[in-house]
Amino acid sequence: MSSFILAIDQGTTSSRAILFDRQGQIEAVAQQEFPQHFPQDGWIEHDPENIWETVLATCREVLDKANISPEQIDGIGITNQRETTVVWDRVTGKPLYNAIVWQDRRTSELCQTLRDQGHTEAVQAKTGLLIDPYFSATKLAWILDNVAGARERAQRGELLFGTIDTFLIWRLTNGKQHVTDATNASRTAIFNIHNQTWDDELLALFNVPANMLPEVKDSSDDFGTTDADWLGASIPIAGVAGDQQAALVGQACFQPGMGKSTYGTGCFMIVNTGDTPSVSRNRLLTTIGYRINGKPTYAMEGSIFVAGATVQWLRDGLNLFADASETEALAKETRSGHSVYLVPAFTGLGAPHWDPKARGAIFGLTRDTGIAEIVAAGLQAVCYQTRDLQHCMNDDMEATPGNLRVDGGMVKNSWVMQFLADMLDVQVDRPTILETTALGAAYLAGLRLGWYDTLEEIEQLWRCEKSFTPKMPESTREELYQGWLDAVNRVRCN
Ligand code: G3P
Repeated sequence: MSSFILAIDQGTTSSRAILFDRQGQIEAVAQQEFPQHFPQDGWIEHDPENIWETVLATCREVLDKANISPEQIDGIGITNQRETTVVWDRVTGKPLYNAIVWQDRRTSELCQTLRDQGHTEAVQAKTGLLIDPYFSATKLAWILDNVAGARERAQRGELLFGTIDTFLIWRLTNGKQHVTDATNASRTAIFNIHNQTWDDELLALFNVPANMLPEVKDSSDDFGTTDADWLGASIPIAGVAGDQQAALVGQACFQPGMGKSTYGTGCFMIVNTGDTPSVSRNRLLTTIGYRINGKPTYAMEGSIFVAGATVQWLRDGLNLFADASETEALAKETRSGHSVYLVPAFTGLGAPHWDPKARGAIFGLTRDTGIAEIVAAGLQAVCYQTRDLQHCMNDDMEATPGNLRVDGGMVKNSWVMQFLADMLDVQVDRPTILETTALGAAYLAGLRLGWYDTLEEIEQLWRCEKSFTPKMPESTREELYQGWLDAVNRVRCN
């Protein structure tokens, strides 16, 4: 009887469950979207119960689809939207408040105050991060300060904090495990990435009680076993990583200098820096790429908040098309060199600007601008932003990727991939498996379960489906990119 690893990919807009075999091939996929809540400008929340229900439902559905029994699942790997913050009652498991999503900007003022007080350097030195509402610490403090009685309850030890991985593991193990992995911990702004511990000074700075925090484990580790009630068997949870780091593993970027860019809700470019937690001069982040056998591998990250979310907005907000797959044909209708720019700063700008107050805009409209041009501008914005990150990385690092591995829903669009290769002036490699995030979680679980002995074995499984090589003349590339820089400058507030 063949066996599988079940990867749970809990993303920003949907939960997915994917079954992988030992070759890293997909046996079956189940996916469910869930509601986004926007209570105020710049606020984004998820109901943690929706997250839990869709995870459970997709796990059950994928077993049904593949027609396999839970006993055939050797283990579970979990990967998740990072930074998103949940606080729940340690006895009842009931969340105190909605999950505050990574894109949420409600703590902008607090972050500004902390920056004005001069804490940036200390936070960056310990965590590799900047002071920004993106990270979990200020979201957690916000819940404690704004939900009636929460801070007192936290002091009494009645509440637990977790990123989504932690919340799911706690639920799946019926409250037996309150754990996370080092990659997720490295996104909270209270975890010291050098000595791998929660940091007392940062806990004091952000006003977060230590008794709420999960134990931090390797990315490939024993995270407990699921209660048999949920999936019909007790299954070990053996791999956990934040989704962008999981994609780094799924793309087999194990050598320093290798990098990937994932185009999901946002876009995250991560380059492996090996044993060295390289510090950016360009406001990129230093983060943990993965931690195996107690040894962290570091990475440099550029984070763009809105990528696929632009396509979602063009589809659902403006009703410009019915399905994302139509965007390729629409973009092909446009003239080359047209000059419409869409700056998707819906929730501010991430790297390298870190401008939470910036908002989106469309520039360069003319009488003949139509749906196709606006759609193309939305797609191009993702490529221009990747180039912004590439510039920073080139300046920050000795060895930057000679070619770039890409994944995520948007990379199915070959028009976008060609424009990306043209804009970056590097080869862009699209792998055969685009579910790289889930695959990375499965690999991490597989390492723990003895499916694979080494990372080299995993590296052998990576396959390129198509390479895109740059074709655009240098002068066109520069002209288009200058137009983008000009458009971004016009929306910036800092
Ligand atoms: O840091 C946020 C990131 O983890 C979200 O990923 O795939 O939902 O864009 P995604």
